[in-house]
Parts: sequence; C-alpha cells; structure tokens
Amino acid sequence: MSRTAVLAYSGGLDTSCAIAWLKEDYGFDQVVAVLVDVGQDADFEPAVARGYAAGASDVLLVDRKREFANDQVAKALLANALYEGRYPLVSALSRPVIAEAVAEVALELDAEAVVHGCTGKGNDQLRFELAFKAKYPGVHVIAPLRDRIWTRDEEIAFAEALGIPVEAKAEKPYSIDDNLFGRAIEAGILEDAWVAPPEDAFLLTSHPSTAPAPIDVVVGFEQGLPVALDGEELELHELIATLNPLAGAYGVGRIDMIENRAIGIKSRELYEAPAAIALIEAHRALEDVVLTKAEAIAKRELEPRWAKVLYDGLWFSPLRSAYDAFFAATQTLVTGDVRLSL
Ligand code: ARG
Repeated sequence: MSRTAVLAYSGGLDTSCAIAWLKEDYGFDQVVAVLVDVGQDADFEPAVARGYAAGASDVLLVDRKREFANDQVAKALLANALYEGRYPLVSALSRPVIAEAVAEVALELDAEAVVHGCTGKGNDQLRFELAFKAKYPGVHVIAPLRDRIWTRDEEIAFAEALGIPVEAKAEKPYSIDDNLFGRAIEAGILEDAWVAPPEDAFLLTSHPSTAPAPIDVVVGFEQGLPVALDGEELELHELIATLNPLAGAYGVGRIDMIENRAIGIKSRELYEAPAAIALIEAHRALEDVVLTKAEAIAKRELEPRWAKVLYDGLWFSPLRSAYDAFFAATQTLVTGDVRLSL
C-alpha cells in the first residue's frame, strides 16, 4: 500500500526540506503539502514551485482568510483576548485553522500521517498536534524539525543538492510568523532583553515619534463585532486590513514583552497588531457602557482564561466553546459606534 503524509507547508526552507525528508527518512511514497492562506505576507507562487521541487506529489494552496477572520479572530475580539495581558494571540489563533485544513486533506486521502514543521521549543507544536488530533482522531503526527535538529547551513546544503530553490537572502535576523491579525517577531538579538527593539523588526507599525497628525476613526459594532469603519461596512478581514495601516502609523499595537510559553520557557517577543489592539480597546469601551456591572465583572474574569486556553492550543475543546457561549450571551446589546483617537 502506498504511504501518504500530508504536511502543513509554509513554503519556507524548513518545511520544504521536510518534504524531502518525509520521503527519504520516513519512507513515504507521497507527500501532499498544504499551504494555507491566513493573510500572511508571502509570495505563494515560488512557495508552491519550491514544494514541487522538493518532491511533493501535490501542493495545495487553500484560502482560509475569511474563515479565519470570522471564526478565530471574531471570537478573540469578543473575548478581548490578550495572553498575559498583552499578546493578542496572532499565531495561536491561526494554528487551528491551518491544522484543520491539513487534517481535512489528510482525511480525504486517508493519509497515514499529518506533519508540521515546528521545533520542540515553542507553543506551535502543541497547537498543531492538539488540533490535528481533534480533527483526525488517531492520526499519526510527525514533527521532522523536532526529531532532528538541522543547522541552517545543513538545510541549505541539503536543499541545494536536491535542486530545491533556496532564497538568496542573507540569514533572516528574526523568526517571523504573520497573518491578517498581525505579526510575531522573535529570536536573534531579541533574545537579549536589554536590546531595544530595532526598527527593522517592524513592518506594520511606525515608531510613535514619527506619527502623523492625530485623526479620529469611528468603529461600528454589531453584537460585539466590528462591522464598519467611518460608516463604511466591511467584512471583518477587510476591516482589519484597512485599520492595520491606519493605526500602525501611530505605533498602535507594538508590543515588546517577555512571555511564558506553554512548556515553561520564557521568551522575548515582539508583536505588531495595530487593528487587534485598536479593536479590543474599542470593544472594551463599548462593553463598559453596555454590560451590567455583574456581567462585566464575570466577563473580565473569564477573558484571560480564554486567552490561556487558546495560547495552550485548546481551540478544539469543550471549555473554549463554553466560554464562547457565555461571551456571545453578553453581546446582544453591544451594538453602536466607538470613536478612537489615534
Ligand atoms: N510566541 C508566539 C506564540 O506562541 C509566537 C510564535 C510565532 N512563531 C515565530 N516563529 N515567531 O504564539
């Protein structure tokens, strides 16, 4: 019987090499690479070509921007979700939608294994594995980048020998993950907590000292969800894409923090999520006007717990659904306009 693995593919060097390793080292006959569009700033065409060059039998590009915005991001906004009070869960929110797309393909193909490119140091391994197992119970999960540590030079040599095109770029100074809700920047010199965030780490935000003249933006909410900017109705993914550069120009949503990872490691993280921070601020302000005192107290207690559940990879859990049912019940009157001064 032919053996098939389905990989959560990013198009980068790690997951490209993983395609070849799955065939060479793990003995798979077919590797299907699934590249999920969650609004990341990526060039999909070369990424797909690289997947085929690495030996994938198929590279599927799946657009889940709308689903991601309307499900994970929408629920995070209702929950005013900030892990450890600051991080709007950018990467954590995207993992369940990516994993679900991968698991769907794997189920359809009756694949033996699903694969992710996470190492053993971070949270994403938990998020992928828990989501894979929720969506494809009993599936075998493989993590080639955790099974064997490769240096970047080893990977480049391996890729070049196989004819996998390697981007000529010099070694990237940071490890970056992004999607329509924001960007996460870590590693490199940032691991020294004394080093101030270098400006070149940021793409979506400018330093507040260079902010343009102040402006007001009016966010329209309907039952807790943002539906309009300055009177113009927009779908959530469009609204975020419109608000990101507006708020980012003022430095809104720049975050520099030490975060406690699920497995206990402390990590210096930079984030930029202008729309996320602006919308959570606006939503909280509207709730302050509308919710009863008792509802507000209960909801503010549960919000950080929701954030931790998500951070720890438990999107597909009865607890998360139960929190969401409570939050939804509090939102029936959270409708109206909020004026933000940037
Ligand atoms: N620490 C963040 C989280 O666990 C971001 C991780 C994203 N990965 C990266 N390579 N920057 O959600």
